[in-house]
Amino acid sequence: MVIHVSALQDALRQRRSIRRFRDQPVPESLLLQVLDAGRWAPSAGNIQPWRMILVSDPKVRAELLEAMTDYLKEEALSTGATEEEEAEETARAALEPLPRAPVLVVACMTKEIFGDRSERWLSEHAMGVQSVAAAVQNMLLAAHDVGLGGCWCSAPLLCPTAVRRVLGIPQGVEPQAIIALGYPDEEPEPPRRRSLSEAVYLNRWRNEYSVAG
Ligand SMILES: Cc1cc2nc3c(=O)[nH]c(=O)nc-3n(C[C@H](O)[C@H](O)[C@H](O)COP(=O)(O)O)c2cc1C
Repeated sequence: MVIHVSALQDALRQRRSIRRFRDQPVPESLLLQVLDAGRWAPSAGNIQPWRMILVSDPKVRAELLEAMTDYLKEEALSTGATEEEEAEETARAALEPLPRAPVLVVACMTKEIFGDRSERWLSEHAMGVQSVAAAVQNMLLAAHDVGLGGCWCSAPLLCPTAVRRVLGIPQGVEPQAIIALGYPDEEPEPPRRRSLSEAVYLNRWRNEYSVAG
């Protein structure tokens, strides 16, 4: 297989989810580059439903993480965890790696465009989610490009009310993900990728695509 050599091709392959960060402040200019990359993502109907909350104030960050932890612990205790430590471990695992990141970006989706009664509500909602996901991926690639590390964390989907309350996010807006950002303090091996022939079929479902070369 011939791969066109370019900085983008390198970034696509070399970006890793970073879960350990150096104790080093991130310059605002780099954060702005990362956030700016997000708004250049494609979006359904060019609606651009993304709204990003940059959480750089350690006090807000601590309040957010505490509220999320409390919510997830409560939930674990009410759904089967019998010990406090077990509930704490469940919450900790769901929030990994947020407590170690110096900067958090909360990626939210606006929903004003979806009429509540619309038969297409589910499809339009999915389009919004996909659009925000495209922006998140743009930001992760931009972070890698400027020497930062990032990790996509889906925890806000598990405790949206806690995230909403602390950050003042209104009901019509869904917190979809939090990107943990900072200078990387690890160089993880790439997790296994499915081969191209496992991931791609030719013309019809399951029709094998034998990749030449
Ligand atoms: C939608 C989504 C949600 C994710 N949620 C988490 C998460 O909550 N915690 C975490 O540590 N990593 C999370 N990740 C990162 C994945 O674990 C990671 O992308 C995957 O293992 C591949 O590794 P790589 O990003 O280094 O290529 C998430 C990734 C995506 C796309």
